[in-house]
Amino acid sequence: ARADLGVLGMGTMGANLALNFADNGGFTVALGNRTVEKSYGVRDSNPDLAPRLVPTDSIEHMIQTLKSPRVVVIMVNAGQPVDDQIALVLPHLDKGDILIDAGNADFNDTVRREAAVRPTGVHFVGMGVSGGEEGARHGPSIMVGGDRAVWERLKPLLEPISAKYEGVPCVDWLGEGGAGHFVKTLHNGIEYADMQMIAEVYGILRDGVGLKAGAIGDIFADWNTRGLSSYLVEITGVTLRETDPDTGQPMVDVIVDEAGQKGTGRWSVIEAQKLGIGATTLEAAVSARGVSSRRRERAEAARVFGDIALPGAQFHADRDGLGELESALECAKLIAYAQGYATLAEASREFGWNLPLGTIARIWRAGCIIRSAFLDDIAQAYEAGEVVNLLQAPSFRDRIEAGQANLRRVVAKAALAGLPVPALSAALSYFDDYRRARGTTNLTQAQRDLFGAHTFHRLDREGTFHHRWPQV
Ligand code: 6PG
Repeated sequence: ARADLGVLGMGTMGANLALNFADNGGFTVALGNRTVEKSYGVRDSNPDLAPRLVPTDSIEHMIQTLKSPRVVVIMVNAGQPVDDQIALVLPHLDKGDILIDAGNADFNDTVRREAAVRPTGVHFVGMGVSGGEEGARHGPSIMVGGDRAVWERLKPLLEPISAKYEGVPCVDWLGEGGAGHFVKTLHNGIEYADMQMIAEVYGILRDGVGLKAGAIGDIFADWNTRGLSSYLVEITGVTLRETDPDTGQPMVDVIVDEAGQKGTGRWSVIEAQKLGIGATTLEAAVSARGVSSRRRERAEAARVFGDIALPGAQFHADRDGLGELESALECAKLIAYAQGYATLAEASREFGWNLPLGTIARIWRAGCIIRSAFLDDIAQAYEAGEVVNLLQAPSFRDRIEAGQANLRRVVAKAALAGLPVPALSAALSYFDDYRRARGTTNLTQAQRDLFGAHTFHRLDREGTFHHRWPQV
């Protein structure tokens, strides 16, 4: 036995993770894949690392190759393929071995799998890995769940391969059971919201101002030098400035406006709903992808109702106009992250995880898709003291104060111009709802009590009441 760990699944993510373990960790890695040739292919196309890459021909072969206690990392598509791999490898593992699912699992599946594996004495760990292909290869952000004691054993394996933010590894244990995958799911929900808001501002600049892709790319590149500085804003500039080699047009102009999704964004919204958290910007982002996929229907609706972007949209690409958009996007982004964090905080209470919210922000500062300096501010807010909601954290209050008027103007102007801003407007409405001491669900309660005797509470008295309403 000579391999420190095994990686099952030689798709791009699995292969890159294996290469990362060999390269940055200096570990010897057993490679496993259903079609065996792929494992040999990974070794042969990386001659520098070949001495530390051991292709295996079967599960039995991988098991023989691994040092004991064994560590096996599964990196396959979420869903049934994970169950298939577990069924394949588990019978060969011994008590004390560690089996990791490093894919984008639904945390409910992780909870179920951990419970199923536990009686065997094998430790099952659900682990979120973010950073796309590049991250997997050179340094992802890693969100570890499962038993805390197991983390102590995994730490020396994972710290060397993780991203570093000012030298600090972007990996940590976040909580028992499905905590790692839950946090990864919320990371993706926030990713969706952030991307959707960026796309909405792109839409304003394209359809409301009439700018070409390249010019919009320049604006995002400029924004990336200040408060909005982040990987997502950076790649927005890069993608918008790219030219299609075939047609000479901007790349984005030849790409079909139908967004794909693999499920994590949707799960984040479902879980937020189950927890009673209004993650409305995340919801808006998931819904917008759904609407985008109905392209034919949209074309028909555009014919019937007229396309968007009425003339005279009050958006301008001058200094003030761009400043207003930049500030609005910053403000809305803050609200989206606050919603994501509110979901994490509630899940932590509900599932008894004691999620370290500051640490989560810290391990998201580098490696992952939503990485940005802004996450450092979030980490600091959590480390400065108790945070009821990020919107109320002192360091964020001022930013919201500074940005909300701009967000309000942008949403209002977009509405008047017929430009859709589902996530930006969701952020604004949520903020207005959240800060309103006297809401309107007193009416909802009255209605519920009228038609279903659902009862209500009174402002002036303790207790639960039912009123004899006039029946209609
Ligand atoms: C990451 C990404 C990655 C993927 C998401 C979203 O953190 O590296 O989040 O996991 O981008 O799953 O993918 P979809 O947009 O296809 O749902």
